[in-house]
Amino acid sequence: MAEHHAGEDGFVQPAHFAFDAESEAAIAPILAKYPPSRQASAVIPLLYVVQKQMQRTADSRWVPRAAMDTVAVRLGMPPIRVYEVATFYFMFNTKPVGKFHLQLCTTTPCWLRGSDDMVAACKSATGIAHFGETSADGLFTMTEVECVGACVNAPILQVNDDFYEDMDAKLTMDLIAALKRGEIPPRGSMIGRQTSAPVGGPTTLTTLDSPPAE
Ligand code: FES
Repeated sequence: MAEHHAGEDGFVQPAHFAFDAESEAAIAPILAKYPPSRQASAVIPLLYVVQKQMQRTADSRWVPRAAMDTVAVRLGMPPIRVYEVATFYFMFNTKPVGKFHLQLCTTTPCWLRGSDDMVAACKSATGIAHFGETSADGLFTMTEVECVGACVNAPILQVNDDFYEDMDAKLTMDLIAALKRGEIPPRGSMIGRQTSAPVGGPTTLTTLDSPPAE
């Protein structure tokens, strides 16, 4: 395995990064979308491939500096251009996170629907005191995020890539307990809501009958 060196923030940065076979299989169709002179357009999808590989190999979805350099070489672009993208977008983690990255939306619609209770339950269940910290067992990192675009089913707790919706304190505690047991509960509404229909079921377009012929 590659040698390591400590980064500026005190965590360990791998000295080398190489895409594995599963990543290479994912990269090929991505690069095929862009002409040879426009391969740099694939920088965001390739950074996602990096995070997924880190999840598989290190149980932590993040993008090491060495991986940014590998992406830069693959796409024929200056490393600083990759650093700019990776550090600009909040969905890329530039330092290690827990196996389960808990991204809690506290923007107004989620706040009005009880995100404070969700946050308190997360802290209680994981032992994490503040946003940005990782639990002592290394399983969870809590991050406060702005609107993730699912306000209709607020409040939202995003775990890695999955949305858990209509959360409350008990549902949050139950979800984290399940993750600790190694279970991954089905994502989506946690109160059985049909997609984004009203609580209790759809109130319009409740039949598939065709309108009468004129
Ligand atoms: S405010 Fe939380 S998803 Fe929009």
